[in-house]
Amino acid sequence: MFDDQSPLERLTRYEAKYGTHLPELLASQELQRVIEDGFCIIPDFWSSRKCQQAVQEIEKLLEREAELGVKVWRDDIGADIRIMGSNNLSPNLDLINDPKVQDWMHTLYDVNSLVGFTMSAKIQALKGNKGSGYGWHRDSCIPFQFKAILYLSDVSAEEGPFQYIKKSGNRDEMARFCAQHNIDLDANRLDEYEQYFDMSKLVELIASAGTLIIVNTRGIHRGKPLTKGTRYALTNYYWPPESKIPAHIKPYVN
Ligand SMILES: [Fe+2]
Repeated sequence: MFDDQSPLERLTRYEAKYGTHLPELLASQELQRVIEDGFCIIPDFWSSRKCQQAVQEIEKLLEREAELGVKVWRDDIGADIRIMGSNNLSPNLDLINDPKVQDWMHTLYDVNSLVGFTMSAKIQALKGNKGSGYGWHRDSCIPFQFKAILYLSDVSAEEGPFQYIKKSGNRDEMARFCAQHNIDLDANRLDEYEQYFDMSKLVELIASAGTLIIVNTRGIHRGKPLTKGTRYALTNYYWPPESKIPAHIKPYVN
């Protein structure tokens, strides 16, 4: 219906409807960063002890997967291992009910409640791993989407840090990127367009265990493929309150 509109017109139309609260978010230091840059980094959100307990809990659930009936998703090579809905299995793996995170997310989405879960992830430097997210992408192309990611292990440049092209989820930048390189606004897998990224804006989130990242995943991002070690992290997934967890994800949620 609106296919004849330019990317800027489509994004402007969406934001006129859903983005009226965005200027208010600038009052919060953390949310200001999310709105302006696409992410904010909060060091020491969890203590290293709490992170260690969470890692032990993930290992316990994986060791006793069959016995406990844990639903685990693995990629083809077993490098990327995910326990979705881990908040329903252990309080040590629950980030979705954290009051501070909840508060930030409700403010970002401009709602009083959200549907979602915490995913616990273990990703290993096996040959052929593609990193978390399988290459450069946007989680959504037009609607806002936000995630909270908590590193449970120290993440160096080799251990699959989250990478983000600063400001790439902002309306004007998205419109420019699409128009300048003739890229469809609805294209969400972006590996083939990497040559067009402004790499001066690439941020690699090398950080210690316990670091929390609040991110606008409409921006261009990926987990860098690992060349050594193992990365443990929790990620909160959200959908608006009127939605449900999508049918293709639901069967994997504990
Ligand atoms: Fe993503």
